[in-house]
Amino acid sequence: MTATAPPAASPPPGEALGRPLRRVDGREKVTGTARYSGDHAPAGLTHAALLGARVAAGRVRRIDTSRALAAEGVRAVFTHENLPRIAAQPPLLPSLAGGPAPGQTFFPMQDAEIHYAGQPVAMVVADTWERALHATRLIRVDYEETAPATVLDQIRHEAFEPEKIFGGLLPGRTARGDLAAGLEQAEVTVDLTFSYAANHQNPLETSTTTAYWEGGSLILYDSAQGPAATQHTLAVLLGLPHADIRVDSHLVGGSFGSKAMTWAHPALAALAARETGSPVRLALTREQMFTSCGHREEQEQRLTLGARRDGRLVAMRHHKLAATSHFDDWAEPSLEAAAQLYACEHYEGRYLLARAHTMTPSFMRCPGEATGLFALESAMDELAARLDLDPLELRRRNHAERDPVSGKPWSSKGLDECHARGAALIGWERRAAPPAREGDWLIGLGMASSVYPIVPPVNPQRATARVFADGSALVQAGVAEFGTGATTAMRQVAADALGLPVTACRFEGGSTDLPNVSAAVGSMGAAYTGAAVHAAATALREQLIAMALADPDSPLHGARPEEVTLAGGRMVLRDRPETGESYAELLRRHLQPDAEATGSWGPDQLTESGARHAMLTFGAQFAEVAVDAELGVIRVRRLVGAFAPGRVLNARMATGQLMGGMLWGMSQALLERTFMDPALGRWNNTSLGDYLVPVHADVPEVTVELVEVHDEAVNPLGVKGVGEIGQAGTAAAIANAVHHATGRRLTRLPLSLEDLL
Ligand code: MOS
Repeated sequence: MTATAPPAASPPPGEALGRPLRRVDGREKVTGTARYSGDHAPAGLTHAALLGARVAAGRVRRIDTSRALAAEGVRAVFTHENLPRIAAQPPLLPSLAGGPAPGQTFFPMQDAEIHYAGQPVAMVVADTWERALHATRLIRVDYEETAPATVLDQIRHEAFEPEKIFGGLLPGRTARGDLAAGLEQAEVTVDLTFSYAANHQNPLETSTTTAYWEGGSLILYDSAQGPAATQHTLAVLLGLPHADIRVDSHLVGGSFGSKAMTWAHPALAALAARETGSPVRLALTREQMFTSCGHREEQEQRLTLGARRDGRLVAMRHHKLAATSHFDDWAEPSLEAAAQLYACEHYEGRYLLARAHTMTPSFMRCPGEATGLFALESAMDELAARLDLDPLELRRRNHAERDPVSGKPWSSKGLDECHARGAALIGWERRAAPPAREGDWLIGLGMASSVYPIVPPVNPQRATARVFADGSALVQAGVAEFGTGATTAMRQVAADALGLPVTACRFEGGSTDLPNVSAAVGSMGAAYTGAAVHAAATALREQLIAMALADPDSPLHGARPEEVTLAGGRMVLRDRPETGESYAELLRRHLQPDAEATGSWGPDQLTESGARHAMLTFGAQFAEVAVDAELGVIRVRRLVGAFAPGRVLNARMATGQLMGGMLWGMSQALLERTFMDPALGRWNNTSLGDYLVPVHADVPEVTVELVEVHDEAVNPLGVKGVGEIGQAGTAAAIANAVHHATGRRLTRLPLSLEDLL
């Protein structure tokens, strides 16, 4: 891997933003002292374990819990017969950004119906987790089984066109121009159908909730991307005032979308704690992670491109057929960003859904774009091949000067530069020569463009900043740290705005006791929380400068605010930097232990420029592969990604996120697949031994290149986000390299050697 090795020392004040600082939570994580939601042990802690349905469809005819109840250490057993009913079921989305966010609208153990294998049918509470798990195996469940249908091949004939998907947020069909007319004008047509295996997110920390009640209030330690989402969802499910629910998600052990939504287990833990009168920890097993937190749905996408002989697109049809649950119309949004990538007059996008006996699918790393771009960028590569054009040149000819959907200009783009830098780094000029062969290995080069959406906030993102009389600063906002580096980056944002050394600033997040920010989803964490922290720290700086200017004892007395700047950790006169004082000196003189300000960024602060522009993050992926001519084995030798993510808050962490995204893209291309047994309706490979993800030995040489773009429209810091664009386009770049090496167009993910033989 190539990544710069940055200095570990704290930078001088005022230069905090962008510096490649090491993670502030790194030491506690690698030394094992970090406390995750399952590490909190309130006095009298008991443990809950779930029993999932063995069948995928039908009902519970009879359930016998007597042996479990008699087992050692067991305190209680809950089934649909005795679990209290939920107060109300919140709707699916659109409130992920500030309201209830259930992962699905079905809540288990409310009746005898079975909708998917693994659906909780019983919950045991015992004095240890092992005893609780053991007791679940003593429960006898008599099922009335009906034949399950879980894979597209069983349900495609029942597919329907939903009016809306995604909790009503997105239309089932979109169009611009006149597709039929566009296809008629086309001189060359490419029509390919792509299929995608179901995938599961697989973070290292299995989802865990520790719940207890104290004086009528519910307190939860919960593995969640946004503690507020858990609070809002449980308030509705349990019929409690928000003020009586406190959620702590300080450290979360990875997520990849599996903890974006609030699933059933936090509410089940809360109900168990209420009914038994003891604190309860409910930790899902690895196997249960495959039936409890959503997944990337099995899907097919058909992509039809019509182009002129010079390569210019005139028509694009993008249809997606996906498996959803019996209760929600979910599809990951695969069509939206792809529809914005190229100038193309005539377009039609359509979702088709078919109901499967699975839980509702959900977010998973680069949700939507990772699959949508595989189709579009593979089809573009095929079009380039048909036209005998360089794939990069084909992209240039279809460059979208404006957003083809809204007609607005881009807030910033940088795609051309990403193409150019990536091409130079991978040595794209080699692609003009016939593909190389090294022994049995056929060598190929491929590329794809990347895009990821930018969604403005729908409600105010808030933070508070405090400076103490000793000169240290504490900044707070309720964002969870699930490995993104928010805790470190937010220190940098605060230090930058306050003009203090990073070492003087601390950031605290992860709790509903702190100012509200949205769950960190959709690559928006750094932008949302960063803008709030920036606003709070800037307001505090202005407050303290105003205080100094008004103070006859301050060396700055009588100056105008615009004459004051921050340098060396002090407020000083711009043209006489020796004149000034520190926040600490000012506060101490006033006998003030601290000063505090709140800042917010939300719909009211969106700039006019934001409304006038279309916003997307752009990038480009390049891959070099070797394919064994005899065996079909595919090896990725090199990945190059060039991205234009706007302002980078921490170069080390941004590079790491982008590199991780590219590796997840390689994983999507070559490894990840959850196998469904269509007869039993159960996922088969529900362990990290059987569900393949890359390990270090699988990692090729990876180069991440940051292309600078300034963007004043997206948010005050100009952050466009690095969370997921690293994965967008990677699988297509790899498949396109395989095509270059072998002449074979692979259209199934993961790519398999069977398809090459
Ligand atoms: Mo992320 S997969 O948008 O939670």
